[in-house]
Amino acid sequence: MSDGLDDVVAAHTVLSEVDGQAGRLIIRGHSLDDLAGRMSFEAVTRLLWDGFFDDLPQDLAPALGAARLEVFAEVSALDSGLLDRTPVEAMRALTARLADGDELEVALKLTAAPAVFTAAVVRAQAGEAPVPPDPKLGHAADILRMLRGKPAPEAEAQALDTYLVTVSDHGLNASTFAARVIASTRAGLTSAVLGGIGALKGPLHGGAPGPIIEMLDEIGQPENARTWIEAALARGDRLMGFGHRVYRVCDPRADALKGAVRRLTAATQTRPGRLAFAEAVETAALAILKAHKPGRTLDTNVELYTALLLEALDFPPSAFTCVFAMGRVSGWIAHAREQLAGGRLIRPQSVYVGPMPRQAA
Ligand code: CMC
Repeated sequence: MSDGLDDVVAAHTVLSEVDGQAGRLIIRGHSLDDLAGRMSFEAVTRLLWDGFFDDLPQDLAPALGAARLEVFAEVSALDSGLLDRTPVEAMRALTARLADGDELEVALKLTAAPAVFTAAVVRAQAGEAPVPPDPKLGHAADILRMLRGKPAPEAEAQALDTYLVTVSDHGLNASTFAARVIASTRAGLTSAVLGGIGALKGPLHGGAPGPIIEMLDEIGQPENARTWIEAALARGDRLMGFGHRVYRVCDPRADALKGAVRRLTAATQTRPGRLAFAEAVETAALAILKAHKPGRTLDTNVELYTALLLEALDFPPSAFTCVFAMGRVSGWIAHAREQLAGGRLIRPQSVYVGPMPRQAA
């Protein structure tokens, strides 16, 4: 067994398949290409939750809108102590105020929570008053409205919706595994989601896209890319946005998000050179990583174009992980319910390699 459990199958799931050799992601029988940009986040959440709640409505949008409004009451607990924390820590703390349970009502509030709390935290940290949700809007459009205090253009809401769908579920990634372990103890969905957020925030998982903006800004010009990347690797740093535990070819989510960035740039004409610059950095990075680790395919993962898309949508890099949580929360909940429906307590073995007690003489 490897330390990272690469070779261990820890669940049977109907939710998603990550095919690392083919570079393919299937979510409940649909290829990612058929979902991203074609189905709303609410519809994909319903698809993921189908069969795991008895009382699931046909259209999840009104219920999710109502849940956004309900959880907004918790924003009053944002105090100066929480505002000194990173957005993901503050969002996690507000989410922890929600009651535990396994019902649909709890699931909806937990899906609303990262969206509502992140927008409120980002605004409050900038000295602006939180904006209450508008339950009539689609989830993505309302997130941008709560963040900015004014309605977002349709192309931007569409781009965020595509992002949320793209990251909604992804096999047994670290945060989903954490959520399933917690669900297996029957602790409740809130505990499972909090565990998911905790695992997601690490830089090897959902914490990667924020530092990507720092990398792009420090590189500045395409001609600086090689020197910057070689120096980073010589220091022993990992390049954020590259490499994946399962994919041995390009992560299909990277293609979906690159397309979303391209469409958004064409619609808004904002920073038209930014995508070409990121592509130049990507090309340099792939060539250098190939030479640096010849035995290991290190290709582009979802985070490079996540960073570009969320930057174009005006999220501060410090909040990028929170936006990842806004999408992945529907997958965590589906996996937690699936675990609860059929799974046993997850309790693996360890091999003790420490000293033994001294034998009595
Ligand atoms: N830059 C430089 N070297 C790397 C990178 C990278 N991005 N990724 C892996 N390596 C090296 C690593 O140092 C190791 O070298 P050595 O054998 O000399 O120690 C070798 O490649 C194999 O790495 P590993 O740690 O066994 O691979 P893993 O499967 O555990 O790592 C990963 C997967 C995503 C954690 C890793 O590729 C990484 O740290 N990438 C950068 C962070 C990142 O972009 N994270 C987002 C992942 S995608 C979003 C998500 O689904 O979470």
